[in-house]
Amino acid sequence: MALVTVDELLERAEKGGYAVGAFNANNMEIVQAIMTAAEKEQAPVIMQASQGAIKYAGLTFLTGLVKLAAESSRVPIALHLDHGTDFEQVIRCIRSGFTSVMYDGSKLPLEENIAMSKKVLEIARPIGVSVEAELGKIGGTEDDIHVSEKEAMYTDPEEAKYFVEQTGIKSLAVAIGTAHGQYKGEPRLDLERLQKIKSLVNIPIVLHGSSGVPDETIQQAIKLGVRKVNIDTNIREAFVGAMRQVMSEKPKEIDPRQILGPAREVAIETIRQKIRVFGSSERAW
Ligand code: G3H
Ligand code: 13P
Ligand code: ZN
Repeated sequence: MALVTVDELLERAEKGGYAVGAFNANNMEIVQAIMTAAEKEQAPVIMQASQGAIKYAGLTFLTGLVKLAAESSRVPIALHLDHGTDFEQVIRCIRSGFTSVMYDGSKLPLEENIAMSKKVLEIARPIGVSVEAELGKIGGTEDDIHVSEKEAMYTDPEEAKYFVEQTGIKSLAVAIGTAHGQYKGEPRLDLERLQKIKSLVNIPIVLHGSSGVPDETIQQAIKLGVRKVNIDTNIREAFVGAMRQVMSEKPKEIDPRQILGPAREVAIETIRQKIRVFGSSERAW
């Protein structure tokens, strides 16, 4: 089927009380793994491209791969820009065929973040492209920060209410204790804060940095209103782990397909397991 929008996927997820997996698409094998996992689970799915992925694969190739996956698939797939920080790149992605973009103005002062998110919405909404914004700072696990500093980075619920009122945004990424990359210890999520945010904004909430967060915690967050769960690191770990295994077992192997093929299989299983945790199996239409 043709690509769908993230807004449509999240509206359905809101009604159904589940979350849609947003998996980072970095190369052909991972695009195929996301598609196959979604088909096996009969799940709607979001393929997202980061600025790094676009730099690596090229916008045309990445868009082409995901469009092809959607068109040859029987499940709904959306193509989303992950952490777009450059307005012109956001526009290029929309022109290229993305059905959703994230404008990440989280490092900007509040009023500038509002102004830029509105500017993207004014362009995207009339042509049916979804927009995700971010409020609060989702760190990296490599960031060595103290608890008091973490508090300052978290999304303020009242500010979230103001942000949504001012922008009219339909989905919002929040900082409640997750971080991008591999966690050093057990991540602690501020679920009370999430509950407060949801009670004030009542739109689908997006959870970034979800790799390494225990399944039960993710499910609690979904109960409290998270409708899009971003996963990249766990796919990287599975994919590269399988590549390493083949290369250590067969050090003389020179056929990339013999290394990437098993990696793709392992990635499929990782993604299927996430889809089940998010409750989106059998939600395709
Ligand atoms: O949110 C971050 C994603 O994991 C993308 O990472 O910029 O290395 O592609 P990347
Ligand atoms: P992880 O790599 O921690 O899963 O985060 C992914 C993400 O948030 C992409 O935007
Ligand atoms: Zn992210």
